[in-house]
Amino acid sequence: MSRIQGNGCVARLTDVTRIYGTAGRETVALRGVSLAVHAGETVLLLGPSGSGKTTLLTLLGGLQRPTAGTVEIFGRAVEDYSPRELQRLRATRIGFVFQTFRLLEALSVLDNVMLVMRFGGVPRAEARRRALALLKEFGIGDLAGARPGTLSQGQKQRVAVARALANDAELIIADEPTGSLATAQGLDIVRLLTAEVRQRNHCAVIVSHDERIAAYADRVLYLEDGALRTSGGLASDALDPLPSALVGGIELDRPPV
Ligand SMILES: Nc1ncnc2c1ncn2[C@@H]1O[C@H](COP(=O)(O)OP(=O)(O)OP(=O)(O)O)[C@@H](O)[C@H]1O
Ligand SMILES: [Mg+2]
Repeated sequence: MSRIQGNGCVARLTDVTRIYGTAGRETVALRGVSLAVHAGETVLLLGPSGSGKTTLLTLLGGLQRPTAGTVEIFGRAVEDYSPRELQRLRATRIGFVFQTFRLLEALSVLDNVMLVMRFGGVPRAEARRRALALLKEFGIGDLAGARPGTLSQGQKQRVAVARALANDAELIIADEPTGSLATAQGLDIVRLLTAEVRQRNHCAVIVSHDERIAAYADRVLYLEDGALRTSGGLASDALDPLPSALVGGIELDRPPV
């Protein structure tokens, strides 16, 4: 059961700028980005390499802080969370899927999926039950005892998605989840992920180079040189299920600062 009511705002970036490096050698990764993501929606973020996609995701996940502007996660400014609270948030309410999977080789597939739940305080038996159910749902139940190293890329990615979903996280952040996979396999994983997110009235933000993922997204956003653009040809706004008042808060047309 979702802890977020209705189409509540899950995370919000307001006029966010992120600059890396030191004076004289600065890279402006994001410039004046405003964006809100809501319960029940899957947002696809497209953009060329270096446009700031990963930076935006790490800000949404509280993994780093903006140079300017504000980031709110679950209704609270990121700087108002203590490091410990942020860590707990990431263990319980935010699920990450990375392109490189980041599975722990020393653990079985089952233990990899259980690990985040155990961090989040889920009792062992319950964590095991949930992990097995997800692995089964993703068609890899028979691999529960295997080591990640013995799995195919597609199977590893299923484990990574199962792990991100296991905690019933309200915000799923996926950085190029199909990046290492053949397209059909990759799209299948996105289909599984977005179906789960929708069913639970949760929220997913997916970064990809693959525009075919747009078929599974409620909204498509483009990053270009650190600034958000409207979706152009994909007309994703028409697919947006949210009331216009909420969408109006996203301010996609704001010019870069
Ligand atoms: N830790 C860092 N230190 C310095 N510069 C960085 C750092 N991380 C990212 N950048 C720079 O910020 C810009 C945006 O990087 P980011 O990784 O967010 O892009 P991206 O859209 O995810 O690219 P890709 O599609 O290649 O993954 C790039 O110019 C990059 O070189
Ligand atoms: Mg990236």
